[in-house]
This record gives sequence, structure tokens and C-alpha cells, in this order.
Amino acid sequence: SDEPLILGIETSCDETGVGIVRGHTLLADAVASSVDEHARFGGVVPEVASRAHLEAMVPTIERACETAGIVLTDVDAIAVTSGPGLAGALMVGVAAAKALAVGLDKPIYGVNHLAAHVAVDQLEHGPLPEPCLAMLVSGGHSSLLRVTDVTGQHGGVDPLGATIDDAAGEAFDKVARLLGLPFPGGPHIDRAAREGDSVYVDFPRGLTARRDLERHRFDFSFSGLKTAVARWVEARERSGEPVPVNDVAASFQEAVCDVLTRKAIDAAVTEGIDHILIGGGVAANSRLRVLAEERAAARGIRVRVPRPGLCTDNGAMVAALGSEMVARGRTPSRLDLPADSSQPV
Ligand code: KG4
Ligand code: ZN
Repeated sequence: SDEPLILGIETSCDETGVGIVRGHTLLADAVASSVDEHARFGGVVPEVASRAHLEAMVPTIERACETAGIVLTDVDAIAVTSGPGLAGALMVGVAAAKALAVGLDKPIYGVNHLAAHVAVDQLEHGPLPEPCLAMLVSGGHSSLLRVTDVTGQHGGVDPLGATIDDAAGEAFDKVARLLGLPFPGGPHIDRAAREGDSVYVDFPRGLTARRDLERHRFDFSFSGLKTAVARWVEARERSGEPVPVNDVAASFQEAVCDVLTRKAIDAAVTEGIDHILIGGGVAANSRLRVLAEERAAARGIRVRVPRPGLCTDNGAMVAALGSEMVARGRTPSRLDLPADSSQPV
């Protein structure tokens, strides 16, 4: 194929990701995670993440090239997450990408992490439906985006709403901790919930009351839910009775998935958009996938969710968006491209 070969680098949080794509074809997706080093702290420690990226960068690049069956000099362009994310972590990826761009004399494309979570779906399901309503739910973000041009130049990725406190994945991680489940808690809650009763406790649905909808129709809030779970668990512990972990996990998960799917579908219907794309680590949640499908189908809306390995942070998503920028003739970044920890979409 004569489509350009793109290498993408992701270091915004705790995964060092290097992906290689040609057009919409995924050739390699190497990920090294420092998650185990953060587990005992119950959350990602920025300094630890930056050091881990530095150590993992070259081996991960080498592993990706080996898997793709290419050598670095075959690469036509470098893409890198320039933000948002942890400042020090982003800098490691951006510096590595600049070194490659200079060494190979190839263009560099700084890409937005959130837009990359959307673009990755084309590796699995083909060309992106534009416009689409993207719901990004991870440990660091919970956003609803209206996507008309995923490359985001001249607008194209418009935030409709976001969390006003904790991210959805953060809520999963905190509630897991309350229930004595390991970090990161999302997959453990997901598993526990399968054996639990989702109507055991009627936990609050944040920002769904009429008065909240006026100002926060497409925004989320999960900190009240987390507190409600904490109170419930404390009360149960005080009473001396055992905490029904599976039932609490299922009831909590239902509250999160109920609000997420309700708001995503409301946003799509309001915007007249008939495709919802879900990305980010929480998109791996089995209940979220089923409920989104069910509710969207009832409104004639199609749901696309990449496979779990592409939902969590990875380099392939960055390469996918870089590939799209090249294909759409977007202007490359300058070599003094900064890392921007609070970069808007
Ligand atoms: O996208 P991601 O890998 O990293 C960022 O935070 O950017 O997302 C990680 C988050 C964690 O909070 C994790 O608990 C959550 O995604 N997660 C899940 C599931 N798998 C991962 N949450 C709910 N259910 C899951 N199956
Ligand atoms: Zn992410």
C-alpha cells in the first residue's frame, strides 16, 4: 500500500503507548503500563509516571516496529499526544516524538488526547461517522463531544458537557477502594456487579433533577454518588452486618451507566446526530455497553464502541488521529510544539 505509515506516541497518563498504522490499518499497538507502580498509592503519581515513560519509551518503540515489521526509517509522520494530561508525562512523549521527527526528517503532528480516543474507532469499524456524538469516559475525563471533524482544526470537536467533579473512572476506582477491591477498580466492579443486584440500593443520579438540567443538561457529577456509597457502606459496617459487595457494586454501576447513557442519548437526539461513539477506559464496562445499545436502539441511534484494548489509553489512537490529519491535509505542528496539560479539544 502507498498510504502513509504513521507512528503515534501516547504518554498523557500511566500508559506508554506506541502505535503504528497505515491508513486505517492497525499494524502495531505496543503498550507499557506503570499501573502496578501506582497501585499502592490508590491513584496515578505523576512523578512516578514520568520516570516510567522515560524508561519504557525506547523499548516500546522498538517493540512496536518489530510487531509491525518495519524499521523507523519507513515511517512517514510522527503523531504525539500534546495534551490534555499530566504535564511531566506528556513532556516525555512530546520530546521523544520531536527527537524522532528530527532524526527521521519527517513531520510531527501534535494531537488532542480526547479526539484520539474518538479517532481510534476507525481502526476497528472503518471511517468515522461525522457528525457523531462522542462520550469519553475514563479515569481522567467524562465528556460529551459533538464531532464534525475529528482533526479538530477549525472547531470540529465541540464539548457539550463534562463532569463538574470526579471523572466516571475515578468514581469506579474510589468506590472499588471503599469495597476493598484492587486498583484500578473499574474491571473489578464490573466483575463483582455481574453477581450482584443492581436495584439493591437506589443510589443518586447526579445532575438529573429538573433544576440541575437547566444549567447542567449534558454535564456529569459523580462525587455525590461516591459519597452516597461511602455513607451506605459505613452505615452497614456500623450495624455489624457484612457489606454485600456485589450488590453495592451493581447498584453503583447501574447509577453511573444510567446517567451516562441517558445524557449521551439526550445529547444525540437534541443535536440530531444518529451515531454515538463511546471511548475511554470505562467504555470497557460491560453494563455500559449493553445499556447504551438498548437505549440507543430504541431511539434509532447506532452505537460504536472500540474493543476494550483500544478504549484504554494506547498509541494506536494517536497514530489513528495522526493518519487522519495526514489524509485530510492538515498542517503539521511546529518542532517547538509544547505539551499542554489542560489543552482543550
Ligand atoms: O482510558 P483509561 O485507560 O485511562 C485514563 O484514565 O485516561 O481509563 C482508565 C479508567 C480507570 O478508572 C478504570 O477503573 C476504568 O477506566 N475502567 C473501567 C473498566 N475498565 C477500566 N471502568 C468500569 N468498567 C470497566 N470494565
Ligand atoms: Zn484517555
